[in-house]
Amino acid sequence: MIKLEHLKKVYPNVVPLKDVNAEINEGDIISVIGPSGTGKSTLLRCINLLERPDGGKIFFKNEEITSPKCNVPKIRQKMGMVFQSFNLFGHLTVIENIMLAPVKLKGETRQAAYDNGMRLLKMVGLSDKYLNYPDELSGGQKQRIAIARTLAMNPDVILLDEPTSALDPTMVGEVQAVIRELAKTGKTMMIVTHEMNFAHAICNRAFYMDEGGIYEDGTPDEIFVNPKRENTRRFIHRLKTLEFSIESKNYDFPAVVSGIDTFCQKNMISRRKTNSLHLSFEELIQQILLPSLVEPKIKAVIEYSEENDEISFEVFYNGAVISPEESDNKLSYGILKSSASELTHEAYNGQDYSNKVKMIFK
Ligand SMILES: Nc1ncnc2c1ncn2[C@@H]1O[C@H](COP(=O)(O)OP(=O)(O)O)[C@@H](O)[C@H]1O
Ligand SMILES: [Mg+2]
Repeated sequence: MIKLEHLKKVYPNVVPLKDVNAEINEGDIISVIGPSGTGKSTLLRCINLLERPDGGKIFFKNEEITSPKCNVPKIRQKMGMVFQSFNLFGHLTVIENIMLAPVKLKGETRQAAYDNGMRLLKMVGLSDKYLNYPDELSGGQKQRIAIARTLAMNPDVILLDEPTSALDPTMVGEVQAVIRELAKTGKTMMIVTHEMNFAHAICNRAFYMDEGGIYEDGTPDEIFVNPKRENTRRFIHRLKTLEFSIESKNYDFPAVVSGIDTFCQKNMISRRKTNSLHLSFEELIQQILLPSLVEPKIKAVIEYSEENDEISFEVFYNGAVISPEESDNKLSYGILKSSASELTHEAYNGQDYSNKVKMIFK
């Protein structure tokens, strides 16, 4: 139904969309997720032509809507947009807000627009509010009205840009419930949201956006449970990472130690885990590896999962394949073994880093 070909959007200081290619099929419900600033809103705004792309093409039902000949207002009527900030008219009652576009833009009779509006208000659970003004409603109610107003134009696609992120947490559920109902009707939808459980449950496809485009596109389970690519995995499991390398016996020891400290403080890692991390660093790198490696080449990756409150500490190193367990330093190995919840060694024969030790701290 919608096809994006080499879509590009450039702002003076940033290029949020570098080269986006995607095909959105009729009936697709696509959750769009990703860190803020990765172009999720820009993508939605380009699709319904609120923003002019700087390159590439968009096709909607086989018509190129980025062509200069395209009737933009007409296309926009077929793509409803729901914003974070409702955008209702304060001087109009709820029902008038809903009737406005169908009467003005589609030429519907007031009676037809009213009947349809009342039907939609019923659907979003607010038929008793039809004569109220927006200011008399809660945020959740306003957003449900905004959804009804979008539906009143009977668009082919609905684009929702963080529809619940301006709401008080107690009102998120009622709006999500309305969106869930809408999803059941088979309407094509794209929804940008930070609510991961909701995003996972509602969609048949998900886009993870990063690095100037759709970084990973997959089924809900592929994206939310088993992401294939690194950035997606970090985002989904809310992973924070710290990497450092040691390439000489005379490396800057205080800098590395304080780097670990800062990382732990910033991510509010418990004192117990912070201590285990320091201890493992000392025993594995200082006591076991550095004395035994002639020309050390060590890379360490610390990953903290906020979701599981768990740290993984991976240390890659060169030299002969030798596990810490085989080291002569039995004392350090003993300390290491007792401080980590898991400790494993893997060999990578023939690679720069021929060994990997992985420790988990729970
Ligand atoms: N009108 C604009 N002018 C300049 N820069 C913009 C404009 N709109 C968005 N940006 C920038 O483009 C990037 C992507 O923004 P946006 O699409 O809003 O990201 P997201 O919705 O994923 O948080 C951000 O760096 C943002 O600052
Ligand atoms: Mg946004």
